[in-house]
Amino acid sequence: TSPFAPRHLLSIADLTPAELTTLVRNAHKHKSIIKSTGEVPHSMRAALAGRTVAMTFSKRSTRTRVSTEGAVTALGGHPMFLGKDDIQLGVNESLYDTSVVLSSMTAAIVARVGPHSDVANLAKHSSVPVINALSDLYHPLQIIADFLTIAEVNLSSSTSSLGLEGLKIAWIGDANNVLYDLAIGAVKLGVDISVATPKGYQIPQEMRSVIEQAAATTPKSGKLFETTVPEEAIKGAEILVTDTWVSMGQEEETAKRLNAFQGFQITSELAKRGGAKEDWAFMHCLPRHSEEVSDEVFYGPRSVVFREAENRLWAAISALEAFVINKGKIS
Ligand code: CP
Ligand code: NVA
Repeated sequence: TSPFAPRHLLSIADLTPAELTTLVRNAHKHKSIIKSTGEVPHSMRAALAGRTVAMTFSKRSTRTRVSTEGAVTALGGHPMFLGKDDIQLGVNESLYDTSVVLSSMTAAIVARVGPHSDVANLAKHSSVPVINALSDLYHPLQIIADFLTIAEVNLSSSTSSLGLEGLKIAWIGDANNVLYDLAIGAVKLGVDISVATPKGYQIPQEMRSVIEQAAATTPKSGKLFETTVPEEAIKGAEILVTDTWVSMGQEEETAKRLNAFQGFQITSELAKRGGAKEDWAFMHCLPRHSEEVSDEVFYGPRSVVFREAENRLWAAISALEAFVINKGKIS
């Protein structure tokens, strides 16, 4: 890499604990200012004026697309959405060629891909920052929004931390891209995370090592605990979280997965049986299906899922500010 190589955001693992904290705090600051004044501050409004952000998406998206387009627009830039039928993304043209060409004309590339190696390859050859908008391994923009959602209640205080140390998150469901970045972020922020997956759907060993390495970035790291029994994971947790049992690209495994995940639906009854903290909250990155969480929890008073979804916008503004406007200097 040249000394001018841009800094990319491919995973929460790319961030120090202090940088992750700053991204979340900045997201919160932008949310408060923009929502209270009803407008984007002058200092930010034209930060991307005259510049284009390419959004290459090889899979569907509601939240990531709308939040990224909204964030680029708020910063005065032009979001250019390039769906899988619009451009040659690894089809009919190499990722190398696509990356060199796109980055010669844009301020940044926000890419949603299948295999993580696709976004890693785009980044390797890009002369502008590449932001991962979901790969099969990671979803960093989601996780910035998730920690904003978890921290929100405490963030008005003036301390520099997020005040999350000692919290416990319980993830009940599939070991997937969202979990991996959530676990990496949790251990970096001193949050314990206990994961219940069915047998055969556990965190792969290589990913466990990545999470352990993330924990090694701070002496005050949170701990990862794994089980195949949902109740065990839930015990003492403040936050219960899940995601779809069938991620995009796994559609042909649907019947097998629905069968394997029997008993993993999050319900009030399960939370009670497992011994969640009295005031537990429910999170889900969405899109949601009823098999992984009951309506009564999903639409109930403990659910923060729609605030979590809105927080994607504030997280996207914070990430673009850090990686595109400030070129990876996160302060
Ligand atoms: N949570 C999330 O990334 O949603 P989309 O797939 O709709 O972007
Ligand atoms: N795990 C899901 C997340 C979607 C935002 C998927 O990869 O399809």
